[in-house]
Amino acid sequence: MTAETLTAIPPVSELPSAGSDFLEAIIAGLSSNPRSVPYKYFYDERGAALFQKICELPEYYITRTEIDILDRNRADIASCLGPNIELIGLGTGAGTKTRILIEALETPAVYIPVDISEKQLRESTVLFRKIFPDLEILPVCADYLQPVVLPSPSRKAVRNVVYFPGSTIGNFEPTEAEEFLRRVANVCRPNGLPAVALTEPGGLLIGADLKKDPRVLEAAYNDSAGVTAQFNLNLLDRLNRELGADFDLDQWRHRAIYNSTAGRIEMHLISEIDQFVHVNDQKFHFRRGEKIITEFSYKYAPEDFAALAGKAGFEFVRVWTDAARLFGVFYFTVS
Ligand code: AVI
Repeated sequence: MTAETLTAIPPVSELPSAGSDFLEAIIAGLSSNPRSVPYKYFYDERGAALFQKICELPEYYITRTEIDILDRNRADIASCLGPNIELIGLGTGAGTKTRILIEALETPAVYIPVDISEKQLRESTVLFRKIFPDLEILPVCADYLQPVVLPSPSRKAVRNVVYFPGSTIGNFEPTEAEEFLRRVANVCRPNGLPAVALTEPGGLLIGADLKKDPRVLEAAYNDSAGVTAQFNLNLLDRLNRELGADFDLDQWRHRAIYNSTAGRIEMHLISEIDQFVHVNDQKFHFRRGEKIITEFSYKYAPEDFAALAGKAGFEFVRVWTDAARLFGVFYFTVS
């Protein structure tokens, strides 16, 4: 193991147990005004499966547009990233996008996928080892929002490139996004730490969803098949199953609206009636029409996203987008 980490905090080698943190976070969120539940709790096994279904919905343009952008610009992207790189994938899941990228790269030295889903990580590693037999692949099962220790590859790369697809950055509040990108920038700096013998400044390849007609956005998060509604309501089901809460799912409704002032989609769960809900030994009163905020999904103008990354220590290099300018794949290097 090297001392290369995604934070300046001493690294942890194991994931913290979800249990008591989970309950604490839920109680705090439901007690706050407005009430909220952190979006990261969407992704239990059922939530992850529902998210996969969302990615295939006709209204949810994000996934297929990002894949299409990568596919069309693969040679150009690969030449920006350069030969002999260490590619660090954050939350790369099944690896559909990363596969396109790696196929285009010139002699990549090592691929380090970091993902919280052990199942996806294992499956994609088995697949990638078959497709890319000469590539060193060092999977890390971890929550990349927490300190992560990155393994030492046996082949030395000239620079590392962090790949963060999917516009997950949009689920962070802008201040959190800046803080996160600052930590990523520290990983990309050459020779920031003596144990890491990278010689050139690294980069960040990142997908971000762009500002667009609010009707397109609202349709993407209120799909006609109701899959996003199931995804949202599964959160309450999860609280019932894992924390012994007693949410009556029939008394809650999914809603997604675009907040144009903040530039974000907001996902809410709306109480259909005046009701009490218990979580552990706490009792919560919800008025009819009261909301729980479950997710923000920020949409950026390309120049605003470049400015945000700039504040975190990155220099803008390129953005690739689709003809309708729905989505952006940005490349930055550390400044
Ligand atoms: C994971 N993330 C980028 C998705 C988004 O679009 O913000 C999560 C999602 N929520 C509802 N639909 C998709």
